[in-house]
Order: sequence, then structure tokens, then C-alpha cells
Amino acid sequence: MDKQMTETLEAIYEKCVANEDNIITVLQEIQNEFGYVQEEVVNWFAERSNIPASQYYGVITFYSQFHQNPRGKNIVTVCCGTVCHVKGAPRIIAKARDDLKLKDGQDTTKDMQFTMERVNCVGACSIAPVVLVNDKVFGKVTPSKIVKSLKQYKE
Ligand code: FES
Repeated sequence: MDKQMTETLEAIYEKCVANEDNIITVLQEIQNEFGYVQEEVVNWFAERSNIPASQYYGVITFYSQFHQNPRGKNIVTVCCGTVCHVKGAPRIIAKARDDLKLKDGQDTTKDMQFTMERVNCVGACSIAPVVLVNDKVFGKVTPSKIVKSLKQYKE
């Protein structure tokens, strides 16, 4: 870990101690700073705070808001709830993955432009199947529509 990173972590640590923040807030600070919560950072915090790393990981794995790997600039979230599934979510996922050239087991594009995620019902079943790109909601998505939608996010 380089000096600048250590200083950044120390600043987060001092701020969180001063505010008497809990682990969730600490992890949010870390994620805001680095985009995800990497292992070496958890280990650093565990040692610095005298809280076992397992407690940090307990929180990281419980809350879906925390990410342990770097994510792309654009987050493509496909709803895989029952209604969206029945209305074609699997075909949309296959088409989007193909369009983004994602290999099996890979969710983030090589150029770090896109990360694909799946969620359960996002509460918009009336416009199923639903895909979110970042904060924008796309309803009644088809395989060809998802390709068009993704195009506007490509650089
Ligand atoms: S199942 Fe997709 S919005 Fe409800």
C-alpha cells in the first residue's frame, strides 16, 4: 500500500472515530473514496481499529450496497424478479452480455465502462421487463432495445 493511500485511510479512520461512526458508515466512506472495498483496505482498518476483519466482511457480505471488486463506469442492472423473468429477462441478459462482450463469469467490461448486475423485483412490474442503467429506468425492454439503450452510454 502506498503512502498516499495510507494517508487517505488514516483520514477516513480519524474522521470516523471522531464521529463515532459504525462499521457501515466506515465502509461507505471507504467505498465512496475508492469505488469498492478492497481486501487490503479491510485488513488495514481491522488492524487500525482493533476490530476483526471478519466483522467488516460480515457487513460487506450482508449489504448488497458494498462491492468487493472494481465496477464499471455504467451499472446495468437487470431485474430478475418473477414478472421480469417470465417476460424475457434471461434473453435480455444474454443479449446485453453478448453486446458488451462479457465472457462467462465476467460482469465488468475490460475497458471498465460497464458492469452488469441482477436484482430482484425493483417494484415496476407493470413495465416489465425492466433494466436500469445507472439511475435511468428502461421498461418493456426487448433484446434489440437493450442494445440501443446501451449504445448511448458507450464512449
Ligand atoms: S419483477 Fe421486475 S419489476 Fe417486478
